[in-house]
Amino acid sequence: MSVIENSKVTIVGAGSVGSSAAYAALIRGSARHVALYDIAAAKVEAEVLDLAHGTQFTGSSDIVGGSDLSVVEGSHVVVITAGAKQDPGQTRIELAGVNAGIMKRMMPQLLEAAPNAIYVIVTNPCDVLTVLAQEATGLPPERIFASGTVLDTSRLRWQLAQRAGVSASSVHAYIVGEHGDTEFPLWSSASIGTVPILDWRPDAGAPMSVDELDMIAVDVRDAAYKVIQGKGATNYAIGLSTARIIEAVLHDERAVMPVSTVLHDFHGIDGVALSVPSIVSSAGAVPVRETTFSPSELGLLRRSADTLRQVADSLR
Ligand code: LAC
Repeated sequence: MSVIENSKVTIVGAGSVGSSAAYAALIRGSARHVALYDIAAAKVEAEVLDLAHGTQFTGSSDIVGGSDLSVVEGSHVVVITAGAKQDPGQTRIELAGVNAGIMKRMMPQLLEAAPNAIYVIVTNPCDVLTVLAQEATGLPPERIFASGTVLDTSRLRWQLAQRAGVSASSVHAYIVGEHGDTEFPLWSSASIGTVPILDWRPDAGAPMSVDELDMIAVDVRDAAYKVIQGKGATNYAIGLSTARIIEAVLHDERAVMPVSTVLHDFHGIDGVALSVPSIVSSAGAVPVRETTFSPSELGLLRRSADTLRQVADSLR
């Protein structure tokens, strides 16, 4: 393992997602140095102060930040959360136009400040913004990827864990595809411990039915809408997911996570970013080519790819 010494992550955007990602990274000790950057000076300075006031309790991590681009310099990982967020009832895709403009203006400046960093895009629609940013910057696909369905996968594992009566870390199941309305679970390879999901018997009773599993998948897909309806945004779980991704890079973990990279010749998909299980390390994210899909899962993956391609094309 080549763990990065004196590691630094900069989170771009001091809104609720960026601040929660910084908070999660600090308390998990994801990086030695956490920086928060935003063009809104008063807001970012206040968030940094509030986080810094807890330094006594965050162990080895520290926080700096502000509205000057020099904040970003020296970063090993740059996480982008800046942009418009979903209003209640709005889809992620509906943010594409406005957030693509913001990304286009921001990326060249960030790259100049941190030319060797790994870039993680959290701003939605994260898949579309990743393909546009990869093309615009010419970065190798492994160095610029989206948080994708890491959070949706955590939502799925939480629900299955509750139903199955096991810890979420013992649920092996992935949501893949778009981080959005066409995402879907890879049921064909899902298991609890070593037991295929359809064979597991909660409380020694009847196994879960396909219908029940599909209802869980719909719930996971629509989870963010429910949270946004109630509190105006999602922030804690995406913050934790982001901190986890940062760790996988900075600790060179080679952890398998469903992040979203621009795919090339992946089961026939080309030039679209979407989530598939990928190896996340200090080199970035590389899709696991051996991932198996049932014929219907492959159909759903292509449907997700077609949807995302259409949105990206409309913005090129
Ligand atoms: C969510 C946002 C981050 O799914 O897209 O909570």
